[in-house]
Amino acid sequence: MTPPVTLIVNGEPRTVEAPPFATLADTLREGLHLTGTKVGCEAGDCGACTVLLDGEQVCACLVPTAQADGRAVTTIEGSDPAGLIDRLREAFLARGAAQCGICTPAMILAAADGLRRDPRPDRASVEDAIGGVLCRCTGYVAIVDAVMDVARGANALAPQAGAGAAVGARIARVDGRAKVAGTDRFGADHQPADALWLRLVRSPHAAARVTIGDLAPVLAHHPGLVRILTARDIPGENSFGVFPHLKDQPVLADGRVRMRGDPVAALVGTRAAVEGCPDADLPVRYEVQPALTGVAAALEAGAPALHAAVPDNVLTRGRLARGDVALGHAAGAATAEGRFETAFVEHAYIEPEAGYARRVGDRIEVTACTQAPVMDQEDVARVLGLPLSSVRIVPTACGGGFGGKLDISLQPILAVAAWLTRRPVRMVYTRIESMASTTKRHPARISARMSADAAGHFTAFEMEGDFNTGAYASWGPTVANRVPVHAPGPYRVAHVRNRTRAVYTNDTPAGAFRGFGVPQATIAAETLIDDLAERLGLDRWTIRRRNALDHGDTTASGQVLHASAGLPRCLDALRDDFFALEKTAAAANAGGPRRRRGVGIACMWYGCGNTSMSNPSRMRIALGPDGSLTFLNGAVDIGQGSSTVLLQIAADALGLAPDRFRSVVGDTDLTYDAGKTSASRQTFVSGNAARLAGESLRARILALANAGPGARLILEGARLTIADGEASRSLDLAALPVDETGAVLAGEGWYDPPTTALDADGQGIPYATYGFAAQVAEVEVDTQLGTVRVRRIVAAHDVGRAINPTLVEGQIHGGIAQGLGLALMEEFIPGRTENLHDYLIPTAGDMPEIDVRIIEDPDPEGPYGAKGVGEPALVATAPAILGAIRHATGARLTRVPVLPHRLHAALHAREAAE
Ligand code: FES
Repeated sequence: MTPPVTLIVNGEPRTVEAPPFATLADTLREGLHLTGTKVGCEAGDCGACTVLLDGEQVCACLVPTAQADGRAVTTIEGSDPAGLIDRLREAFLARGAAQCGICTPAMILAAADGLRRDPRPDRASVEDAIGGVLCRCTGYVAIVDAVMDVARGANALAPQAGAGAAVGARIARVDGRAKVAGTDRFGADHQPADALWLRLVRSPHAAARVTIGDLAPVLAHHPGLVRILTARDIPGENSFGVFPHLKDQPVLADGRVRMRGDPVAALVGTRAAVEGCPDADLPVRYEVQPALTGVAAALEAGAPALHAAVPDNVLTRGRLARGDVALGHAAGAATAEGRFETAFVEHAYIEPEAGYARRVGDRIEVTACTQAPVMDQEDVARVLGLPLSSVRIVPTACGGGFGGKLDISLQPILAVAAWLTRRPVRMVYTRIESMASTTKRHPARISARMSADAAGHFTAFEMEGDFNTGAYASWGPTVANRVPVHAPGPYRVAHVRNRTRAVYTNDTPAGAFRGFGVPQATIAAETLIDDLAERLGLDRWTIRRRNALDHGDTTASGQVLHASAGLPRCLDALRDDFFALEKTAAAANAGGPRRRRGVGIACMWYGCGNTSMSNPSRMRIALGPDGSLTFLNGAVDIGQGSSTVLLQIAADALGLAPDRFRSVVGDTDLTYDAGKTSASRQTFVSGNAARLAGESLRARILALANAGPGARLILEGARLTIADGEASRSLDLAALPVDETGAVLAGEGWYDPPTTALDADGQGIPYATYGFAAQVAEVEVDTQLGTVRVRRIVAAHDVGRAINPTLVEGQIHGGIAQGLGLALMEEFIPGRTENLHDYLIPTAGDMPEIDVRIIEDPDPEGPYGAKGVGEPALVATAPAILGAIRHATGARLTRVPVLPHRLHAALHAREAAE
């Protein structure tokens, strides 16, 4: 019998029974159902579980519950005597400091602790106070701003937007209040009372034959286990995957594992039973085979095939050819070339995969974090052998995705377990499990060559890139096809030849990660541009400005940019900063100090939406007889703010204020398919669908009232008044007939971006619009230690139209943080960096000062002119930082991350060569 423990939680004594070593985080969440305390790693690395213990911040995952006996515990559900927590909540809302919100409770509590200790902090002190809490979304800028606001006593409130004034307004995100209150429910926060738990037994080997013996003795030995599932138990197809013709990933291994972490069996039972049954108790026998690690091994003649249908392990080839590249090089006055290498990069969302499934009659419901509910629905139906209509996906709040939650993870196995046991079944990935088994950014090996004439006009670009797609296809074809279009950068180049391959290996699968291969390719192109500038005696800003794609220019895929090509304006917005920082660096470096300053610049472009593929979205707005206005929005918000942005668009299109709406997001029973949240498509694609839905409902209302297009709508309870100049007509909504959904009036919008297929040379219209950006980075390099501190980033982004400037800035801040990580610190090594203390992501203290310049070159095709910004935010950062390191030291780095030992070696090699 476990002795009870009494905690004073948010001022109230709460007595719980907790095993002696149960963590405080677990007791708060599972024992007291205070799920505002999040768990991201169970190792004290991420700080998501931060609470106040006797007023001081602690990681609740490191505190045994017994240690808190009789002590005061403040969680995000509580408050503090000084009111700091409440003031921080408001400041976080106003500043947009909560994006996905999974770190927000911890950030607020850590900040409250910091302000209690130091009521008048500077920014560095605030960064120290929150330094133990990781945020993967915000780049920490808005968080520190919010804390400084509270310290200054500023009562900043996010503005409200009236009817017709939502687009362009900095309104607070519609789901923000739940995030700052800690009531937003993420995958692990759903706790069905009678749920079983599920734990996957995963392969420790990257390549092996697998046999599983008699499981009956295991069940007998562990009475809390209800089922042990193996491949034989899958009711339908034991496979899933992104593309219909590439369902190559098994739910449970069927005789073979292809990567470390492949699941071979699923334990289903009480939580104590599944956690208390070690893998070694299962009769799983592995016949280990040589693993193909890295692309070179997989491409060797005679290398075994990972998948029988692909004997040479080359999953996909991408190609683009325009003009005559030999002629283009011959026309150049200078040619630059290089080989570049990037690593696996982990998404490191703070919320590990989590959720539950339950069987409801002949249907299955899966409630889990995801970026792609309809894709999940399709694969769950396939795995269960059910029609699509028998599967309901209910997305939870998503604690970060960045592409990593586009792929299915625990959904199908939860569905199988719930289907077979007829009980709700829960699962939460451990941090190690999440990192070891889910997709990564593709490691790339790129060879590229570029030429320019004496005036610096680019004459030719060619590249060959191999992308390690790991054990399963995932989004490998998307990367292989997107990169050739983007590889030359956002520049006019007449002669181009790009070839890519996505290659199967026995490594962790690589899939979608903010940019789909474009960040890797941009490192190559931007480095070569710096080379050309140096050889031609041009400055690095001018050579980019001289070649920047502009209105009317033709891209390498033959697409004419009729509108919204704002790169020249982005570069112009940075010009003075770039040259001023160059001067500052020169002054700082006079005398040859150990710490040298440098400045870099890089540009990017990014096609919004799928490459040459239909990717439609459908939205609905319904008006009920009681005057309720519901926005039925199938686009999952993964923290970037689509629920808010799409609502702003819909509200203005209809002509009512956004706060009149209730939103239903992502539930496949209640919303239409809006497509996946990826490829920077939701603002552009779903934004158009939302606009059309609003316009459609407005047109129906105006037609009923026989009113003109400029009429004003006033909704008061069930009375809708249409004011048209002097005339005014009121509709009693309660008197109107309801349709089968319960609406009296509804509007729907459907939009599919106008693209064309690419021909064999990659020519066509792959995207309806592109985001453009230029960034300047200033760094300081410690030439003895090989360390780099990024001091400042100035980022100019053409977003078409900023529907919500606060959210746009937040995306850019967060993208820059991830770009900094890509450049300087992030390298996932299977089996070695599968946790957040060996795999480093930027902390608050790593962030530079960031200055965002929003450029608006409206796209007539975009909703109110808007384009996407999610991926563009990241792409230019790493090459700008590499350029700055080179400017500071002369070292031309071609491999990221630039870890200290690599930079140190490069500096030594340079010294030796001089
Ligand atoms: Fe901080 Fe998402 S808002 S991790």
